[in-house]
Amino acid sequence: GEAAPILAGASGGRPHESGTPPTVSADLPALHQPVWPDAEAARRSTDRLRSLPPLIDSAECEALTADLAAAAQGRAFVLHLGDCAETFEMCDSQSLTMRQALAVASAAVLNYGCGLTPIPIGRIAGAYAKPRSRPIDQSTGLGSYLGDMINGFDSDAASRIPDPGRMVDAYFHAAATLNHLRAQPIPAARVPARLIRQAADVCAEGAQARLLRDVADLVDVTMAAPGGGRDQHSSLPGMRVSHEALLLDYELALTRRGHDGRWWDCSAHLLWVGERTRDPAHAHIRFAELIANPIAVKLGPATRPADVADLCRRLSPDTVPGRLTFIPRLGAERAETVLPALLEAAADTGTPVCWVCDPMHGNTFVTEQGFKSRHVDDVTAEIRAFFRACRATGVAPGGLHLETAPEPVTECVGGWQGLREDELANQYDTRCDPRLNAAQTLQCVTVAVEEFRS
Ligand code: PEP
Ligand code: CO
Repeated sequence: GEAAPILAGASGGRPHESGTPPTVSADLPALHQPVWPDAEAARRSTDRLRSLPPLIDSAECEALTADLAAAAQGRAFVLHLGDCAETFEMCDSQSLTMRQALAVASAAVLNYGCGLTPIPIGRIAGAYAKPRSRPIDQSTGLGSYLGDMINGFDSDAASRIPDPGRMVDAYFHAAATLNHLRAQPIPAARVPARLIRQAADVCAEGAQARLLRDVADLVDVTMAAPGGGRDQHSSLPGMRVSHEALLLDYELALTRRGHDGRWWDCSAHLLWVGERTRDPAHAHIRFAELIANPIAVKLGPATRPADVADLCRRLSPDTVPGRLTFIPRLGAERAETVLPALLEAAADTGTPVCWVCDPMHGNTFVTEQGFKSRHVDDVTAEIRAFFRACRATGVAPGGLHLETAPEPVTECVGGWQGLREDELANQYDTRCDPRLNAAQTLQCVTVAVEEFRS
C-alpha cells in the first residue's frame, strides 16, 4: 500500500510557525540514528528546538538555489569546503576567521585564475552529526563518536552515550557561528593573500606556483586600492552554510512552514543526504523530498544510472534549476569508468542538476600506522577525471566538495608538500575523516582552474 505521509497532520499556521510539526513516518527506515537512552529527555530537547527561531530564512535558501542554477549552467562554480566533523570548539572567533580565510583564498584563486564566480558553501554551522561505519570503535571498544550534536569525543564510556541535550547545544553553536559569518563576511583582507603565497611557496616551481603568486599579487593590489578591499567583498559572496541532514530529530525540529506554505529546513541553506542514507525507500530521501531547500545527494561507487534517474524524479519533480545537486564521491579510478553514465542518466531525465565533485570520500585508506588518510594525488586525479567526464558528456562542472582545515594539519599525504605517512602523527587533529590543509586545498582549486583553462 501507499506509504504513510511524512507530514502527520501538518496544518497551516503563521509564517515560520511549525503548526503541527512534521514527523517522519515511523514505517520508513532511518539509518544512523542514535538511540537516546532517555526518550523523555529527547522529547524535551526536540520540543525546545521547535520553539527556537529559525536559523536560516527561506529567501536565503532561494538565493542559493539561483546560484546553484548558475553553477549548473557553467556560469559559476561551487566551493563546498569544511571539516568532516565540525566541533563545538570550532565556534571560536579565531577558528572561524581562519575557516573564512581559507574559503576566501580558494574563491580568489578560482575567480582570479579563470574568471568564474565562486559560490562558497561551508560544511559549517551545524555539521555536528556523523554517520560511522561501525557503532563500536574497534581500537578502544567504546561506542563510536557520532559528532558533537550526539555524543562526546572523550575516550570514556560515559562521554560516548548519546545525549539529546547536545542537539540544543548544537543549535546555539550554529547560531553563534552563523552570526559570525554574517557579521564579518570577509576576514582581514590580507589573510587570504598570505595563505595563497604560502601555498605557492610549497608548490614546486612551474605554472601552478606562478598562477598562485599572480593571484596573491592581484589580491594585494585590490586590497591596497581605495576602499581597502571593500570592492572585493562584493565580488566574493559570503559563505553559505550546509551539513548532512543526518540526525532527523534535529532537522525535523528546525523544519518550518514558510510564507509560501512550503516546508523549509531552517538549520542550513543547503542540506545533503549522505551515501549511507540515500536509499530512496528510506526516511532521509523522504525528508529531502519534503523540504524546499536546495538539496544535494552524495553518490558512491555503487550508484547505478537508474538510481540517479530515480533521485532526479523524486527530488526534482518540478525540474527547478538549482534545486538538485549531485556530489559524486567515487574514487579516482571509478570516476573514470562510472561517472559519464551517471551524468548522462540525469541529463536523460531532463532534470537540471548541479554536479559537484567530492574527490575525498572515495579515496580514503588506512596507513600501516593506523591513520585514516588520503593521497592528494588521488584527490587531484579524481578532480581531473570529473572534468574529463563533464567534457565528454557536455555537462558543466558545477563545483568541488573538499574536506579542509585552515590549520597546518598533517592528515592527507602527498601534494606539493610531499607529506609522508610517517609525518601524519605531527598534527593529526581530525575527529573523523582526514582533511586537506590550506596548501593542499589551494592545490586542488588550482587543479580545477587548470582544467577550466585547458
Ligand atoms: C561526509 O561528507 O563526511 C560523508 C560522510 O560523506 P559520504 O556520505 O559521501 O560518505
Ligand atoms: Co567525511
